Amino acid sequence: MALVTTTEMFRKAYDGGYAIGAFNVNNMEIVQGITEACREEHAPVILQVSKGARAYANHTYLIKLVEAAVIECPDIPIALHLDHGPDFATCKSCIDGGFTSVMIDASSKPFEENIAITREVVEYAHKYGVVVEAELGTLAGIEDDVNVSAEDSSYTRPEEVEEFVTRTGCDSLAIAIGTSHGAYKFKPGTIPQLRFDVLHECEKRLPGFPIVLHGASSVPQNFVQIINQYGGAMPGAIGIPEEQLREAARSAVCKINIDSDLRLAMTASIRQYMAEHPDHFDPRQYLKPARANIKELVRHKLVDVLGCNGKA
Ligand code: G3H
Ligand code: 13P
Ligand code: ZN
Repeated sequence: MALVTTTEMFRKAYDGGYAIGAFNVNNMEIVQGITEACREEHAPVILQVSKGARAYANHTYLIKLVEAAVIECPDIPIALHLDHGPDFATCKSCIDGGFTSVMIDASSKPFEENIAITREVVEYAHKYGVVVEAELGTLAGIEDDVNVSAEDSSYTRPEEVEEFVTRTGCDSLAIAIGTSHGAYKFKPGTIPQLRFDVLHECEKRLPGFPIVLHGASSVPQNFVQIINQYGGAMPGAIGIPEEQLREAARSAVCKINIDSDLRLAMTASIRQYMAEHPDHFDPRQYLKPARANIKELVRHKLVDVLGCNGKA
């Protein structure tokens, strides 16, 4: 199967009450860990690449790694998506360069400007059969080089979503309901709670339309504990409770973005390996368990959180 867009994936996910995992990829081991789990669990998957990933690994390497995964996993649908496209030029470069889906993130701009930028990307992308995710509302946390404080974040206003989707022609919409980017999503001592009322209001106003959740890592405490035990310092790292993500996956949320959890899985494994094998210096030795840890994490997400196993 060649790379696909997310259209069919989202239609089935919406009707079936599950969500597709969108996992960020930055190198070969991450691509392999994710796609091996998806292949074994017969799950469709979105591999997404940020501006930072393109700066780190280079567009061509990432495209070729994803193409290799498509060859190795011929039975599952794989979409290649630009995560947080900052402007038209970056989206165009990914559309021209073989991506099947792009996100234009103009959510920090005023409403009318967000619409105008998104509309421009949609017009170009649709000419080439590429789908577009847009965003309304602002998440807290760090994405690429933009750091949004909790005070500057804002929930999506449900009364704006219909007009935004109609005027932009976007294919899916990321909304802000209390998720945030990175490993420190809630202050220790507070009770993490997503705003399902905002989600359901958006859902009501956009029947049948796919909603996206960014910043949806759960920050597994076993990884945080291993990192801290083996020389790391990540006090107070807290994520979204998985029951709340499961609930979101049953709703109009068709795409759930996970990146920080992959990083934690990889880092925990490498830290532990290094501490236990101080004389080893072959990267294959410590990257092998790191890749296996990513694979098991992704399997858990597919089966126990997203519910998309067996849906390929
Ligand atoms: O939302 C941001 C993603 O986690 C990508 O992070 O910009 O560090 O690659 P990055
Ligand atoms: P996390 O930082 O919660 O993994 O979010 C990732 C994300 O939203 C990528 O766009
Ligand atoms: Zn994001």
